[in-house]
Amino acid sequence: MNRIVNHPILEEGKQGKEVQIFVDDKPITAMEGEMIAAALIANGIHINRYTAHEHKPRGIYCAIGRCTDCIMTVNDVPNIRTCVTKVEEGMRITTQKGMGVWSEEER
Ligand code: FES
Repeated sequence: MNRIVNHPILEEGKQGKEVQIFVDDKPITAMEGEMIAAALIANGIHINRYTAHEHKPRGIYCAIGRCTDCIMTVNDVPNIRTCVTKVEEGMRITTQKGMGVWSEEER
């Protein structure tokens, strides 16, 4: 994993414990409390979704929750902005295609 450990502005020692999350059914290691998008980048994953009409890949753009380029399906809920959503142990994250699909339980 590639991470910034020491930063001149951010506080030191704020990193959470290592947890496992699943991206497209593959386990990856993340730090508890970090944003999902940061965990993905640290693991070399740069495509969060594909556009609805032209099926073009999208990844992080604004990184502050405004553009929705980073949306993914998280625990069966589509359209989650991964740049402003914190990692939790065992999360299941799926690369979103188009508008996403709600699970049967959520309908
Ligand atoms: S990258 Fe823009 S909302 Fe997440």
